[in-house]
Amino acid sequence: MTGYPLDPSPEQMRAMGRSAVDYVIDFIHGLSDAPARNVDGALEAALRLKASPPEDGGSFDEVFEQFRDAAARAYETCGPGYLPYVPGGGLYASALGQFLAMSVNRFPNLWEVAPGLVQIEQNVIRWLCDLFGYPDEARGILTTGGSIANLSAVVTARHVKLGEDFGDGRYYVSEQAHASVPKAAAIAGMPRRAMRLVPVDPELRMDAEALKSMVAEDRAAGHRPFLVVPAAGTTNTGAIDPMDAVADVAEAEDLWMHVDAAYGGFFHLTERGRERFRGIERADSITLDPHKGMFLPYGTGSLVVRDGAALRDAHYVGAEYLQDRAPEAELPNWNEYSPELSRDHRGFRVWLPLVLHGVGAFRRALDEKLDLAEHLYAALAEIPEIELPWAPQLSVVPFRLAGATDDADRAFLARINDPRRVYLSSTTIEGRHVIRACIVSHRTHRDRIDEAIEIIRGAVRGADIRPQTG
Ligand SMILES: Cc1ncc(COP(=O)(O)O)c(C=O)c1O
Repeated sequence: MTGYPLDPSPEQMRAMGRSAVDYVIDFIHGLSDAPARNVDGALEAALRLKASPPEDGGSFDEVFEQFRDAAARAYETCGPGYLPYVPGGGLYASALGQFLAMSVNRFPNLWEVAPGLVQIEQNVIRWLCDLFGYPDEARGILTTGGSIANLSAVVTARHVKLGEDFGDGRYYVSEQAHASVPKAAAIAGMPRRAMRLVPVDPELRMDAEALKSMVAEDRAAGHRPFLVVPAAGTTNTGAIDPMDAVADVAEAEDLWMHVDAAYGGFFHLTERGRERFRGIERADSITLDPHKGMFLPYGTGSLVVRDGAALRDAHYVGAEYLQDRAPEAELPNWNEYSPELSRDHRGFRVWLPLVLHGVGAFRRALDEKLDLAEHLYAALAEIPEIELPWAPQLSVVPFRLAGATDDADRAFLARINDPRRVYLSSTTIEGRHVIRACIVSHRTHRDRIDEAIEIIRGAVRGADIRPQTG
């Protein structure tokens, strides 16, 4: 023993570490054969895990066994067949980076405490800012995900545009916006009436003309329009709101423009993404989720803000017990820019994969996802029983059984998911059930999408297609 009762001996540490790494390697290399979903009896098994911790310590092997079983009885969120919601990926390098960062447990929110690690986070933030051509004074934060990034964006917009008295503020999102935006506004203290839903065009993109009229109406009624949140890729269909047109309205009307690019943002690395997002660089702030478009394990989002001082002003509250720490210099004290004080170091889990694989590897992987979405769309277009209401603008392919009831479409989805090679989810758009395949994981390639197409063809053959009533 080392004399620290809660630290295992070096041999014990090595043995535990080896078991863990061996398991991870087998897990990752077994993913292509793993079922897309393995939840039969999972709830019963989960309830058997209900326990209080023992007074005296037990064995690592025993609890590790429990962990492996618990992790296996789940949706295969890391696998190539995972196509629902917005998949992540689970990069090994990122998990390893996090293990290292957690092990040294440096405090990342005050620069002086671990300048090198703060610089690594700063590298990530600067890279994100550069991606969108943001100036030197831009700043950003690494968050736990897109929802918290959107929260800090709304708080910043509210602070800058409305000050402390914001009851008459109004913000604008499209009918297709992610729920985290109104949730962020509600947490930020905005009354529900502050949200204005802007209609969308036939491609489900925010109608900028309608936005303009709504802002004018609200102003005439004595309200204070302050924020518009277009999406660079909606969750439902990947629709891209017209960035330049929205930016024109935002500039003319003095609105803060925050782009929710949690799902789509990293497609900006590709040529097609840059073309489709043209105007995004005019935004005041952008949410990006490395745990989506960079294939990281869940737990890393980010926000970049063009005017870094605005982000700081909106979040800064001084504290006497931090008086010994150096003020911001070349490196930031992140706690002054975010809601958090103590937190995990998030930079290395983004930086390690970037340096190890190179930005090009991410660019190519994302380009491949765009190709796969186009391929899936083209293949489904050849199946007459399938209706494709919207062409993919990024990597989401929405479809449904043509002329079928919602119940029949739900049954169709169940048949697609039944062989457990792929897992797709559904949504409701314009009051109708719609199935969607969201291709984001770095592990999803052409072979799995071709298999999905065959599975969908098979599921069509058993379909109950009757004209929709009502
Ligand atoms: C467009 C969009 N915005 C925000 C979010 C919320 O991000 P998170 O789940 O990381 O909190 C998501 C999640 O899917 C999303 O697709």
